[in-house]
Amino acid sequence: MRTILIVGNWKMNKTASEATAFMRGLLARVPAQPANLELVVAPPFTALESVRLALGASSPIQLGAQDLFWEDHGAYTGEVSAPMLKDLGCRYVIVGHSERRTLFGEQGDLIQKKIRAALKHGLRPILCIGETLAQRDNGTTDHVLTQQVHDGLSGLATEALATITIAYEPVWAIGTGRASTGENANAVVKDVIRPALAALYGDQTAQAVRVLYGGSVTGANAAEFFAQPDIDGALVGGASLKVEEFLAI
Ligand code: PGA
Repeated sequence: MRTILIVGNWKMNKTASEATAFMRGLLARVPAQPANLELVVAPPFTALESVRLALGASSPIQLGAQDLFWEDHGAYTGEVSAPMLKDLGCRYVIVGHSERRTLFGEQGDLIQKKIRAALKHGLRPILCIGETLAQRDNGTTDHVLTQQVHDGLSGLATEALATITIAYEPVWAIGTGRASTGENANAVVKDVIRPALAALYGDQTAQAVRVLYGGSVTGANAAEFFAQPDIDGALVGGASLKVEEFLAI
């Protein structure tokens, strides 16, 4: 049984003080955690510490980061490493988000280096993959997703897959208000993403990996995705920034 995972990706939103206020509001309202659900918030690096303090020692919500660099330390101006994130209490880290791929040119082996750095330090990577509108229209979705799975995850120890999550985020659905449908997203996960994983690590491992859906998830459509047999939760952007909306999800 794969546990449902809901991750709030704040992107470049909320100062450290805004994050504290938001977390107070959220924690006051978040219900006692049902057994089969994990909740994660992924604030910007600058708000990790204030969110950590707000969460305290025994919170039902876990901390995640939005990115990392693959070296542990050194002359890499502006970068943040896995040991730094771990020390701040992060358990998860998002890798290869489409905004990083598009705006910052991240791809292929660079993304795998980040995955490996996260694994080496006991962080759980959430690998984002997804096709653009152009790729969908020219019929290359299956090829693109298979390649992204391969680039991100090939050659790892099979045991590592137990701590890896994939987020299927069609680029055309991110921040557009045009979510995929539960049925379509489930078909992509079942017919493309799990087979791509199975080709690398066998069917049993492929069936055990959690695959989230992301792209314009809201309180109104979340249930449709969670009802799908091959979708194990959501990566939520815009709707994770408001307490009411995040709680609704
Ligand atoms: P969105 O973003 O929910 O605002 O579409 C999702 C994401 O980019 O992870």
